[in-house]
Amino acid sequence: MTQPENWQTGGFGLYVHWPFCEAKCPYCDFNSHVVASVDQRPWAEALAAEIRRYAEAVPGRVLTSIFFGGGTPSLMAPETVATVIGAARGSWTFANDIEITLEANPRSVEAARFEGYARAGVNRVSLGVQSLREDDLRKLGRLHDVKEAQAAFGIAREVFDRVSFDLIYARQGQNLRDWEEELGEALEMAVDHLSLYQLTVEPGTAFWDRAQKGRLKGLPTEDLGADMYELTQELCAGAGMPAYEVSNHAPAGSESRHNLVYWRYGDWIGVGPGAHGRFSVHNTRYETIAHRMPGVWLPAAQAGNGDLSRDVVPMEDQAIEYLIMGLRLSEGVDLERLHNMSRSVAPDAVIEELTRMGLLRISSHQLKATLEGRMVLNSVIEKLVP
Ligand SMILES: C[S@@+](CC[C@H](N)C(=O)[O-])C[C@H]1O[C@@H](n2cnc3c(N)ncnc32)[C@H](O)[C@@H]1O
Ligand code: SF4
Repeated sequence: MTQPENWQTGGFGLYVHWPFCEAKCPYCDFNSHVVASVDQRPWAEALAAEIRRYAEAVPGRVLTSIFFGGGTPSLMAPETVATVIGAARGSWTFANDIEITLEANPRSVEAARFEGYARAGVNRVSLGVQSLREDDLRKLGRLHDVKEAQAAFGIAREVFDRVSFDLIYARQGQNLRDWEEELGEALEMAVDHLSLYQLTVEPGTAFWDRAQKGRLKGLPTEDLGADMYELTQELCAGAGMPAYEVSNHAPAGSESRHNLVYWRYGDWIGVGPGAHGRFSVHNTRYETIAHRMPGVWLPAAQAGNGDLSRDVVPMEDQAIEYLIMGLRLSEGVDLERLHNMSRSVAPDAVIEELTRMGLLRISSHQLKATLEGRMVLNSVIEKLVP
């Protein structure tokens, strides 16, 4: 039986990157830039023009999700968001249950814009709460305090159908007990979705420089990090918010549809500085990367194309990407779909060996990482990829 194309299996999403922030957090390596002010009209028009350009290349699709990521998309004026959503609506058919998410920093100025975003069509927000401890928010360089974040969360719950928030754990000076208490408070607060990330010290960040100079003290050891991860799985599952992905928790049906498009290796269009996209036309899959610097992207988009590159993704690379994405999910990857892309990725003998080691398991033709496997996912993938 022929399998459906990737976009039919995984859905079709639109990612919109807003690259500006009010301050640069010392741990963050996202494509975010601090500027005094932004004239948003040309940005709204350029993002809309990019969407229309893509609609000509990838016409006639049903859009499952839109995701405004950043940077800080909650610095966008509601009119800017409305212009972008309007361009998408004019370009593709919206699924009846389309999910439109905006990443927001949990401050009162941003919460004041929530109603405007909802009127523009946003129906889900993801709040960057990061920590429920004042000292740690300061260490993470955040501009909000705990009360302000909780207030923004309360407003978001009233305004939007769906609300998620992010926390970063395995922070400086944090022990297992501290995290247990904080996560307990987070689970009391959470409604339908929670993203819990272990702090990673990324090259090019202020934390990285501090770590190089030996001044980033008190980071948990690898063992403590692993214990924190296990505890996180346990507490979240117990509270009815099991992990559906390595760092993402939700009851069944409340998963982020947009993230599922990536992890199920569907098609998505990426617009805005540094945005990546993957989409298939006549069974050829393309990867697009937009110019990263805002000052380069804007004039390029205004001149008719904001992309730095568009390349064909060879079948074997598609298999590798699908494997890397899909093993993050608790539902795993469809082995038949994977092996139709390439027989040399995830050969049976290696799957058997990793299964014997308790790192993988197969159920209903889906290849899944076990909890132990998810904790060492990079080395599992290294073994599966030729
Ligand atoms: C694009 S960022 C944040 C969006 C928004 N500007 C904010 O700060 O809330 C998405 C999420 O990635 C997580 N994150 C970013 N850098 C991280 C790092 N170095 N380690 C762990 N999590 C990180 C944070 O939880 C953050 O909310
Ligand atoms: S974490 Fe968010 S607010 Fe901080 S620099 Fe990164 S994108 Fe901007």
